[in-house]
Order: sequence, then structure tokens, then C-alpha cells
Amino acid sequence: MRISVIGCGYLGAVHAASMASLGHEVVGVDVDAAKVALLAAGRAPFYEPGLVELLARVAPTGRLSFTTDISAVAGASVHFICVGTPQSRGENAADLSYVDAAVEALLPHLRDGDVVAGKSTVPVGTAERIAEHVAQAQPGATVVWNPEFLREGFAVQDTLHPDRIVLGVPSGAEGERASAVMDDVYAAPLAEGTPQVVTDLATAQLVKVAANSFLATKISFINAMAELCEATGADVTKLADAIGYDARIGRKFLNAGLGFGGGCLPKDIRAFMARAGELGADQALSFLKEVDSINMRRRVRMVDLARDVCNGSIVGRRIAVLGAAFKPDSDDVRDSPALSVAAQMGLQGATVVVTDPKALENARRAWPSLRYAETPQEAAAGADVVVLATEWPEYRELDPERLGELVARRSIVDGRNVLDPRAWRAAGWTYRALGRP
Ligand code: UDX
Repeated sequence: MRISVIGCGYLGAVHAASMASLGHEVVGVDVDAAKVALLAAGRAPFYEPGLVELLARVAPTGRLSFTTDISAVAGASVHFICVGTPQSRGENAADLSYVDAAVEALLPHLRDGDVVAGKSTVPVGTAERIAEHVAQAQPGATVVWNPEFLREGFAVQDTLHPDRIVLGVPSGAEGERASAVMDDVYAAPLAEGTPQVVTDLATAQLVKVAANSFLATKISFINAMAELCEATGADVTKLADAIGYDARIGRKFLNAGLGFGGGCLPKDIRAFMARAGELGADQALSFLKEVDSINMRRRVRMVDLARDVCNGSIVGRRIAVLGAAFKPDSDDVRDSPALSVAAQMGLQGATVVVTDPKALENARRAWPSLRYAETPQEAAAGADVVVLATEWPEYRELDPERLGELVARRSIVDGRNVLDPRAWRAAGWTYRALGRP
């Protein structure tokens, strides 16, 4: 099939390459010429394990191209909308300007029978609004909603081997026809054995924000338990293990620590609350406000712990922050808890040196006022306290004895509960963590 993918960020670039690897002829379109040039050259504009390899695998087939020219979508029969829906400036609602611009640009090229498949995370009701707009310009085209659940760092795997395929279609024959077209897009091996939920447009849009809200709630739940553990001397990691053995609860997403960040969970729960307010259903989601607050409180607690181990003041202290990305295996620093904590400590008078294996370039751009170092050793040199903020595997494996030789004082705050307290204490470190005694 011929497919267009509009928007070539984490979602679109991976989706375009994945669709080409299934045998489709794919054109990826983005307004960012630099991004297009990189992708066209087989390079990834961001760090995503497996993407460069996937681009290299499909390149010889000639089935994948990238361009800034929207007219290249003409001739494709399925058009995926993969542009971002960031948080609006100064408010919680999602900024839909990229989605609207993508649809507007696409309209003149739509033909009878085309399918416009939305993948972007949108407030419920957006698909219906787009469908009306599309129907005016090209009555023979159909809008469907096909949310994506990929995680950064696992984007290729999640796209090619999804847990489920969710497809929202309009009712009646139009929906059935569009559904059959999408079946062809996700032909075996992608769809084989993958559960599929075909539903109405509203449900499909809600599935995505409901899933992300649940994940955010799970993380904030365990972080709330961490607050209780801090008040009682209990250990949240053991608590998570113990409740996680109950299959109804499950151990995944129960890692207490600095909390969630990134380009999805924080802005998605806020946009969901804003949309619920518009729908007169704000009470239904008032708990998400608490989920957000618990999450933000962890950042404050982290700074407090650093202050504690510095005997009450971080002014003039040197603090090494290990990690800048919002999570390991990513160079994404959007709403990064690590950088938020680093910046806060800087504002409170500490000299902060941040290191990260992949995200330094993005971090420098986002927070030019902080200091940066290439390695944890360089960051830790002369530090009064080391703060582990992103659980990169190389930080888990740091040797407390060798790192101890570099620092001014052996004190560490483990913001992700990934270090072995006994090993660090045995090497003479003051070890503090979120939710662990
Ligand atoms: C998330 C969803 O997982 C994905 O399905 C959706 O499509 C997009 O949003 P992503 O933002 O890539 O994916 O990251 P994810 O792995 O979900 O982690 C989100 C944040 O939660 C990270 O900051 C991570 O450090 C934090 N987290 C995760 C915890 O603090 N504890 C956990 O137990 C798990």
C-alpha cells in the first residue's frame, strides 16, 4: 500500500520506518527540513535504540522517503497524522495547532476512498471535529483514530510488536470499509496474534489518555506510599515487591523515586483534566490533580534530601547530578525530573554539574545555565553530594569505592532506588533514598 506519515518525531519517524519494513511504500512528511534531511540520510534526529538499524534495513528497498513537501502525500491511500500535541503555553489544555495544520495541509490532496488515521494523542472530540472538516473537503475520505502506545527507548519494538491495536471508526458501512483498509495496513506479521479493539472514535481517543492516566496514577500511588515509608522508616521497594506479587496489581510501574516526566504522561493527564472540565466531567478526574501533585512533591523531597546530607544548606555546595534525560535509553529532556531538580538546586545556590550518556546536547539547549560534564567521574569530582536522578545502567554499576576517591564528601541521594544501600554504606557513603530508610 502507499502510505503517508505526517509528522516525523519519535512517533512518526518510527511509524514510517516500521510501515516500510512491513512492505508498504511510505513517505514521511515534516515541516522541519533538518529532521527530514537526517532521516533521508538514514540518521535519527533523536536517540532511539534500533531506529538507525531499521532505517538501514529498509533503505535498500527504496520504499521509504522523507520530504518537507506535503504534495508528496498525493497517491497515498492511508495518511497517518503523527504530529505532536504539547501542553499549551500557560494552561493545561493540549495545543492542537500542529494537528490542525497537518489536516489543513493534507485536505487538498485527499482522494475518494482515502483513510486519514490519527495517531496523535488528542482530547476526545478532536477526531469527530477533524472528520467533519475532512467531509467538507473530500466526502469520500474517512477519518479513523488509531492511538499509539509506544514508549521512548522501545519505540521500534512497541510499533512492530504492539500489545494491542486500537482502532476507532465511524459507524456503518464507511467504518467497516475503513477498518478493512487498516487491516491491510497492519497485515501479518504485525497483527498476527495481536489483540484488536475496534470501536467508535470517542472510545479510541479516550483509550490512550486513560492508559497514560492509569500509568501515571500507578507511579504516583507508589510514590505516595514512599511518603508514608519516609514517615515510618519502612522500605517502599520491598512494599512494591510485596504488593506487586498480587497479579491483580503487578510489579510494573511501581518503581518509586523521582516520579514521571517526559513528553507524554505529565501533559496528557493535564490535558485530560482540562478536557473533562470542558465536558462538565471535571469531578471524574479530580484525582489526577493529586497524581500530578504527588509527582511534583517528589522533586521537592529530592532537593530536601540533598540539603539534609549537606547539613542544612546547599548554598555554595557542589552537587553532581547523574542523569538529565527523563528516563534511561532516551535523550529526551522534556519535563525531565532530573533537570528540574538540578535547576532547582542551582537556583537555591548550589553549583550543579549534570552528566548524562545521551541527553547532554538537549539538556544544554534546555538549561544553558547549568554546568555539564561528559562522565559521572568528571561530574562527581569534588562534589559534596552525588544525586542519582535517571537510572541509566552505567550509573547502577558505579563502583562506590572508586567514585568515593573523587568526591569531597561521600554522600549520595538515590532518586531512583536502584543502588544497593549496603554496598554504598560499606564504602563509607552516607546513602539517602526516596522512600527507603
Ligand atoms: C509513556 C507510556 O508508557 C506510553 O505507553 C505512551 O505511548 C507514551 O507515554 P514514555 O513517556 O516513553 O511512555 O515513558 P515511560 O516508560 O512510560 O515512563 C514515563 C515516566 O515514568 C519516566 O519519567 C519514568 O522514569 C517514570 N516511571 C516509570 C517511574 O517513575 N516509575 C515507574 O515505575 C515507571
